Amino acid sequence: MSAKPLTIVIFGATGDLFQRKLAGALFDLHQKKLLPERTEIVGFSRKPFSHDQFHAFIQNALAARANGKIIEPEEFVGKALYHQGDLNSAESYASLGNFLAERDRLHGTCSDKLFYLAVPPNLYETVFTRLSESGLAIPCAPGLPNEAQAWTRVLVEKPFGNNEKEASRLDRMLGRLFQEEQIFRIDHYLAKEAMQNIISFRFSNGLFEQLWHKQHIERVEIKFHGKEDVSTRGSFYDGVGALRDVGQNHLLQMLALIAMENPKELKAERIRKERAKVLGKVTVNQKSIVRGQYAGYREEKGVASDSTTETYFTLEANVQNTRWRGTPFILESGKALQENEVSISIFFKPTPCLCPEGHKRAHQNVLTFSLSPKEEISVLFWAKRPGFDFQLEPKRLSFSFSEDALLRQVPNAYERVLLDAVRGDQTLFASTEEVKRQWQIITPILERWQKLPLHSYLKGSAGPQN
Ligand code: BG6
Repeated sequence: MSAKPLTIVIFGATGDLFQRKLAGALFDLHQKKLLPERTEIVGFSRKPFSHDQFHAFIQNALAARANGKIIEPEEFVGKALYHQGDLNSAESYASLGNFLAERDRLHGTCSDKLFYLAVPPNLYETVFTRLSESGLAIPCAPGLPNEAQAWTRVLVEKPFGNNEKEASRLDRMLGRLFQEEQIFRIDHYLAKEAMQNIISFRFSNGLFEQLWHKQHIERVEIKFHGKEDVSTRGSFYDGVGALRDVGQNHLLQMLALIAMENPKELKAERIRKERAKVLGKVTVNQKSIVRGQYAGYREEKGVASDSTTETYFTLEANVQNTRWRGTPFILESGKALQENEVSISIFFKPTPCLCPEGHKRAHQNVLTFSLSPKEEISVLFWAKRPGFDFQLEPKRLSFSFSEDALLRQVPNAYERVLLDAVRGDQTLFASTEEVKRQWQIITPILERWQKLPLHSYLKGSAGPQN
């Protein structure tokens, strides 16, 4: 691990994301000794916290996650500092700049700096502008040793912008401030082990790769079902909705991994290029779109009482190239549904089976990549039922990733995101081109969004029944 110091600045550190995901991921990286020895985590938020109060906040977040298990967070928590500031105010950034310069002087060297925007997307523009104006995009004040080697990188959460136009404006702005190598657009689903395994699985198993074609694949279903309602995230969610929250990013990235061509090399730029290429071929069957909202959503904290934000959508996408033309990709996502299930199922075309008269219905093989709640790859196939009759029954061949992952201490998605950003590896982040193409797919839907009926569905149900 690098001997250079590292400063991770979290904008919006007292928010939900840091509390639920980032504090724990940073703690795990620290425990595994994967962060530089001299790492500091600087929380930047409006709440008037002292350093000690910030420490207590982190400890609570870690304790909640540990669920009764004993952890010893003291050493880790000692690496955290807090700097109060208003994300809108130029003075706050100037004062953050002075604070970071002071820390660098104290270390006697220029630290690498990672800025993590754990803030609502409507604040990105302000934060980028202020970052630039205050000189924070430059690693440190001139004169410190190591100045030339130090880097600054910025990590941005999704959704990046609200539509295609806004995303391009943000991109132009980011482009003036940072090089593409410095920008890490997070789609934490890309960082999930089970998602990465899709590429390995597809391109290393000839058994399936030979069949990976519209001639053999009837349809692909991508499900992103959650049991949870919007919980404490009402005010964020109400301005975003299901399509922007997970459709524009996680679901389209899943589609890209299934539909992309072989990148030939395991290099970030090649993989990102292939993902972007296939995303450029995606069209949406506008007639297939259904949007819904669960009953009771408007009473959630932070949600407008007349909100028309969708908490559910389904749509049929098509990939307009030789490999896929005519094979539908059905995307579906919702909150407060009856099950927690994130999965991709590939339905192979049925073959006429060798079965007795009266049982001649077609038998279909289904390959499923399950991402949540368990991480598993399974194949549904048909075998003879033991006995005198020649009857077939469905069977599953499965490989459960979670057990394997546990044994091998596989990092969780946010650990991976943070570590790859520190290491400068962009493979698991969406490129400018990919984000642009994702918005090109979603924006025409959003333009008609309010004109589509908003179906109500019951909490704990399978979604709108129509
Ligand atoms: C986030 C969305 O990106 O992903 C949430 O904002 C969603 O709405 C979450 O619930 C699901 O992620 P995970 O890792 O918990 O499956």
